[in-house]
Amino acid sequence: MIELQNVTLTFPDGDNRIMAVDDLTLRGGDGVVTGITGPSGSGKSSILAVAATLIRPDSGGVLIGSDADAIDGAQLSKGEATALRRERIGIVFQQSNLLPTLTAREQLQVMARLGGAAGRGRKAEIDGRVDELLDAVGLAAHAGKRPHQLSGGERQRVAIARALVHNPEVLLVDEPTSALDQERGAEIMQLIARLTHERDTATLLVTHDLVHRDALDELVTVVDGRIAQPALAV
Ligand SMILES: Nc1ncnc2c1ncn2[C@@H]1O[C@H](COP(=O)(O)OP(=O)(O)OP(=O)(O)O)[C@@H](O)[C@H]1O
Ligand SMILES: [Mg+2]
Repeated sequence: MIELQNVTLTFPDGDNRIMAVDDLTLRGGDGVVTGITGPSGSGKSSILAVAATLIRPDSGGVLIGSDADAIDGAQLSKGEATALRRERIGIVFQQSNLLPTLTAREQLQVMARLGGAAGRGRKAEIDGRVDELLDAVGLAAHAGKRPHQLSGGERQRVAIARALVHNPEVLLVDEPTSALDQERGAEIMQLIARLTHERDTATLLVTHDLVHRDALDELVTVVDGRIAQPALAV
């Protein structure tokens, strides 16, 4: 579970401050894809950055975990937030941010090893997990390819697999279909939905493109940093 509680985030703007997120409360349940939509500049990416503990909000909380032992990501030091991300949060940015020199399999292996000390005993376990995920996203046959040898949709699938390789409780995805045609976009959305349901991940997915809304379990609309309507079943 991830819950943003009364989150406010402002950015400096000359003598003033821009209100990017305005006292926003949003809950993403386990095994649920919660879509976040809204106009450009409404605060969607800012919400994800706060949820990811990449930006600390001016005020409010970012609760991660079950109610009883939830951690507030907004209260952590930089080092603690980094550790939290490595262990419990998966992030897929709009650009897939793959490392150009690594193969698909290596992108996942590197991320898995960041999650903790990779003793020899863990290597076989990590390699097994990596290959299972590459298979789950339909890339088993492409595991040895580097990003420039993959299509945009395939790169996005590597990024999704990489975000899941440490079995995070929370998956945060920003505009996963923006560089893809409609058919590839639909495949990516269905893939995220399936993995969310199978792995019981609390997934927040930003999209301004509602052609893929059937892959979302819930949908909220953000306008001027606030929820414009209550979460709807879609
Ligand atoms: N690093 C920053 N410094 C200053 N202002 C910022 C920064 N990041 C975002 N903003 C501002 O905060 C507001 C929300 O931006 P945000 O990127 O969250 O919007 P968005 O909903 O993701 O838009 P888009 O659909 O275009 O990606 C905008 O007014 C934007 O200009
Ligand atoms: Mg954005």
